[in-house]
Amino acid sequence: MKILVIGSGGREHALVWKLAQSPHATQLWCAPGNAGIAQEVVGQASRLSGGSPVDRQDAWPTNRVECVNIGAEDLPGLLAFAQEKQADLTVVGPDNPLALGIVDLFQKHGLRIWGPNQKAAQFESSKVFSQRFMENYGIPTAAAGTFEDAATAKKFAASLGRCVVKADGLALGKGVLMCSNAVEAGRAVDEIMVGKAFGAAGARVVIQEFLEGVEISLHALCDGRTAKFFPTSQDHKRALDGDRGLNTGGMGTYSPTPFLTEEQLADAAKNILDPFMRGCAAEGIDYRGILYPGIMLTKQGPKVLEFNARFGDPETQVYLTRLENDLVELLEASVSGTLDRHELKWNPLASVCVVMASGGYPGSYPKGKAITGIEAVNALPDTKVFHAGTALKDGRIVTNGGRVLGVTALGKDLRAAQAAAYAAVECIQFEGAHFRRDIAAKALS
Ligand code: AMP
Ligand code: GLY
Repeated sequence: MKILVIGSGGREHALVWKLAQSPHATQLWCAPGNAGIAQEVVGQASRLSGGSPVDRQDAWPTNRVECVNIGAEDLPGLLAFAQEKQADLTVVGPDNPLALGIVDLFQKHGLRIWGPNQKAAQFESSKVFSQRFMENYGIPTAAAGTFEDAATAKKFAASLGRCVVKADGLALGKGVLMCSNAVEAGRAVDEIMVGKAFGAAGARVVIQEFLEGVEISLHALCDGRTAKFFPTSQDHKRALDGDRGLNTGGMGTYSPTPFLTEEQLADAAKNILDPFMRGCAAEGIDYRGILYPGIMLTKQGPKVLEFNARFGDPETQVYLTRLENDLVELLEASVSGTLDRHELKWNPLASVCVVMASGGYPGSYPKGKAITGIEAVNALPDTKVFHAGTALKDGRIVTNGGRVLGVTALGKDLRAAQAAAYAAVECIQFEGAHFRRDIAAKALS
């Protein structure tokens, strides 16, 4: 099979790395990709424990993954490429092309593509849509209201006290404002709805009560009829140790997390996934892809903060290093509605991913800093460096984004995986490199 992956982050590197191990893959492209993705080889067996069982290195000639210079939001460019190359499957990483309707476009042209269509992607692209859906189908979430006018929004926020004001559309992860009181909430509503700080996303807002608790990530693979949870994971969204500093795309993950037991995950399948699938059936939503609910573990049980309609980044890095199934087969089953024939298999190891970021991230940061040590780390047992913001310049790998690398390691337990990941991080250098030193620490304390 010839497969096109869309995106350029650590998530897409992990996807490409795992897809490349499948005996079904004969050729892989990534648009636009990054320097690490361009080094992956189709047909190469995983060096990590518990990876895909098929080692077919001698089975047929291997070929490198090819990065093509087409942006993830250039829908006409991506369509033309997939048509020209006769791609058998396109795999969408990021949320923006999904929200723009890339799945509908490819399907209209008879191309096979993995990910939710535009209607289904609304779970991420519209917080108002998601909130109303959760309320209509009894999915546990924060008490909330949705508003189109600033005065009513402020009145509701004042009744809540501590609350969270969310702009309706995709706002590059920035349209969520935490407020301690009515005055701050009023300012947040004005910023979003009147000042249009996040553009058109400010036409409507969701205001949620502030939920206290531990936040975790869940992922479920869906095929329109069946939804299956992955194991649990936890991201670290703040830039600095101890959950201080600004919110980022995610500074590190680990899986599994001890904060939700297997039993509680099974309950969450009943309380969250079942009503989700029922609601989709009732509303005529054909959800095929990953559903990624952000969850707050409150005293009253798990509550959904938001839905994402894609793999998390860097959740994907820890999930795919633990997944034993052939990813091509799972994504094919998700597209064709045959997921019930597959059992998801996970190795019993723990996985930890530590993100190394450019100095200054999530604010402004320099690019083009030479990176050393990656090859030495990739030679370590059960360790893999996933690239995010990297590029190749004069034959050297240099920084090219905020989140630069996702240094990922497996271990017999969380402590061993954490130690291995940090030992690997110590081997990698670039000027201004910044990383958190407490990934998975709370789970171990
Ligand atoms: P969202 O994009 O809706 O997930 O919001 C981004 C982040 O804001 C989440 O990952 C949480 O850390 C935080 N957050 C969102 N909603 C709430 C809430 N109702 N209570 C507390 N924290 C929240
Ligand atoms: N890890 C956070 C996200 O992917 O949204």
